[in-house]
This record gives sequence, C-alpha cells and structure tokens, in this order.
Amino acid sequence: MINKKVEKALINQIKLEEQSSRIYMSMASWGEVNGFPGAAKFLYTHSDEERMHMTKLITYLNDKGGYAVLQPLEMPQNKFKNLLDVFEQILKHEEFVTESINKLFEIAFNEKDFTTSQFLQWYIEEQIEEESTFKGILDKFRLAGNQTGGLFHLDKELETLAIADAATGA
Ligand code: FEO
Repeated sequence: MINKKVEKALINQIKLEEQSSRIYMSMASWGEVNGFPGAAKFLYTHSDEERMHMTKLITYLNDKGGYAVLQPLEMPQNKFKNLLDVFEQILKHEEFVTESINKLFEIAFNEKDFTTSQFLQWYIEEQIEEESTFKGILDKFRLAGNQTGGLFHLDKELETLAIADAATGA
C-alpha cells in the first residue's frame, strides 16, 4: 500500500495537471476567437499533454494500491491582454508546476518511497523541457516585437511547433 502522505501529494498533483489542462484549453479557445489559429492549435495540443500527465499519475497511484480521487477545479481565466500575456502566464504557471513536482519528490523521498521518487524523475525532466520551450517562445516574442507581421509569423511558428509536439508526444 502506498504511504498516505505520498498519496495525498499525488492527488494534489493530479489536480494541478488537470487544472493546467483546463487553463491551456481556455487559452486555446481565447486564441481561436482572437485571430491566433496557430497559437490555438499549439495550446490545444499542450492541453492534451497535461491530460496525459494527469492520466499517467492516476494510473500510477491506482496501480500502487492508492485511489486517485479527482478534485474540484477552479474556473480558468478567459480574458487576456494579448498573446504575450498568455505566454507569460504559461511560463509562470509552469514554474509553479515545477515547484509542486519538486515538493512532491521531496515528500516521497522523505517518506522513503523510492519507487515514487524514481517515477517522478520523468516529471522532473519534463518540467525542465517545458520551461525551456516556453522561455524559447517568449524570446521569439521579444524578437517579433509588437508588430502585426511579427506576430503573424510567430503564430505560424506555433502551429509548426504544435504539429511537432503532437508527433513526438512531447
Ligand atoms: Fe504537466 Fe506543463 O506540466
């Protein structure tokens, strides 16, 4: 049976991944109605990835003799200043997710649940990758400036990135 403290922390992380999926879904929907089809595609794909992160945790916990009980979620934000605002918020959110994963790892390790610690290595690496992806996108925003042409190209690039992500499941 899995340690109760670890189970509680895993359930909390499951909620955060599910909430992340909703946040990106809401952002995708905003992008779609505000003239950013490429960003919308990227964000829909990213929302699916968060769902995958959630499912992976659920099946792990259930497999280890726990019970992944889903928690209530908050309504996600649905108004944004502009596309830059969306991506700045994503990076902040991902930094928060990284902190949460690190805390979860610490709890599992302190409880001597080394199987869960090992399982969480995947998430630790995934967070490094995600933060780097979003920092890269924000760098492109800086290059594009606030010109319509620049944003148009950036939106196209995000569409390409979405297709690449969907292909690799990254
Ligand atoms: Fe599941 Fe974007 O962290």
